[in-house]
Amino acid sequence: MTFLPALSGCDDGEEVHVIFVHGVASGDPTPEAVIIWTRVSTTTGPVEVQWEVSSDGFENIAASGMITTDGDRDWTVKIDVTGLSPATRYQYRFTALGETSRVGSARTAPAGPTERLRFAVASCASYPHGYYHLYRAIAEEELDAVLHLGDYIYEYGNGEYGDVRTVEPPTEIVTLADYRTRYAHYRLDPDLQAVHAAHAFITVWDDHELTDNAWSGGALNHQMELEGDFDARRVTAAQVYREWMPIRDSGIDGKIYRRLTYGGLVDLYMLDTRLFGRDQQYDEGGPPRDDAARQLLGAEQEAWLATELPASTATWKLVGQQVMMAQLPQFLNEDAWDGYPAARTRFFDLLEQHQVEDVVVLTGDIHSSWAWDLTRDPTDVNAYDPETGRGAIAVELVTPGITSPGLPESLADGALNLLAENRHLEFADVARRGFLLLDIDHECIEGAWHHMDEAQIISPEPQSPTVRVRVEIRKGTPKVARMP
Ligand SMILES: [Fe+2]
Repeated sequence: MTFLPALSGCDDGEEVHVIFVHGVASGDPTPEAVIIWTRVSTTTGPVEVQWEVSSDGFENIAASGMITTDGDRDWTVKIDVTGLSPATRYQYRFTALGETSRVGSARTAPAGPTERLRFAVASCASYPHGYYHLYRAIAEEELDAVLHLGDYIYEYGNGEYGDVRTVEPPTEIVTLADYRTRYAHYRLDPDLQAVHAAHAFITVWDDHELTDNAWSGGALNHQMELEGDFDARRVTAAQVYREWMPIRDSGIDGKIYRRLTYGGLVDLYMLDTRLFGRDQQYDEGGPPRDDAARQLLGAEQEAWLATELPASTATWKLVGQQVMMAQLPQFLNEDAWDGYPAARTRFFDLLEQHQVEDVVVLTGDIHSSWAWDLTRDPTDVNAYDPETGRGAIAVELVTPGITSPGLPESLADGALNLLAENRHLEFADVARRGFLLLDIDHECIEGAWHHMDEAQIISPEPQSPTVRVRVEIRKGTPKVARMP
């Protein structure tokens, strides 16, 4: 496959918009469809919006239409454009109230034999912690899509988490108007607008799209006395997520897990380990960690995955999800799969019983970079050999925050001795921000962490990332290996 460069005009951030101030976005590409998104800046409605999609710079229109939006959906516009051609880069734009939006660009998924794919993986973009240089860097890559694993926004008020920039509203978001205002503020960022205009996003939420350490029935950062009913807040947060994010609507409240296919090379499973079926964290009052009935995905999502994963005929099975799956006993995190060992065992059982191979788990949430072999007991020297991958079941690659901080920078290069203490760990960087770039063919997945230091993240001047570490995963071997 050749990558067609985005046509000029996709990154026209200099152009002044009054009606389309929040830019454009696209998402969830299939071989024949893609979601396109914008918002009309008005306070009276309803408003009619024209949309156009083209593969040749609007010489010919591949699809077009009119749609009406209003205050019931915060004047956001989301269209599932169908009837498109596979593996094709399209441009799209909107017109309303006498103004035309900037041009966005999105590539449909391939349908037939596919030789190469390229994805960026991102998560955790706390606006107050710095500037979105890493989103800008992703915008400048040639990609099939961006996989965003959540913490796209954070719920906190100013001064509560990060102090480089301030957000609107200034207090913690709780109400419908609060959540809408927070997304709107994030979406004014020119670097975030640039990455949305450049690529389709495939997103899932993590906790901060609602509130910290959420589970299906509550959250660490939800105080019922002050903030009201948790389920009402969850429904509000999910509604605004669907209004503002270019995700295909399932029609089912709270359901975002789904599969996307990439032409026999990749089947992509986007999971919800956060809200859909998660039991409460053990250290926050949940049932005992080792309770075999404890759920991270929930029975319904687990059953869906048990049907979908073994049915895949793609070379690679990518599992995009939120919290770290590998065992990390030095920092046992009750919010991650370490806090739900029975659920992790059931996931491993599923892969082994159905001989599902070439599975790569992609993870966000933890604001640090990791490459793991996934195995039942990494300390069992008879069952697992880190040199060959014997005894491993899958691998896991963890992307750090776009801006959200990890541990202090003095620990960035392995001062914690984690590599020596964890046989299944191939690489860790606990401090730098970044994103993960995946180059995929039928033989190999190459992962490259693009990193920035703290000084770059807090600088308003343009910055470029550095690739310090590349890893590869070879088909047929559940082992991640650092490249020279
Ligand atoms: Fe985060």
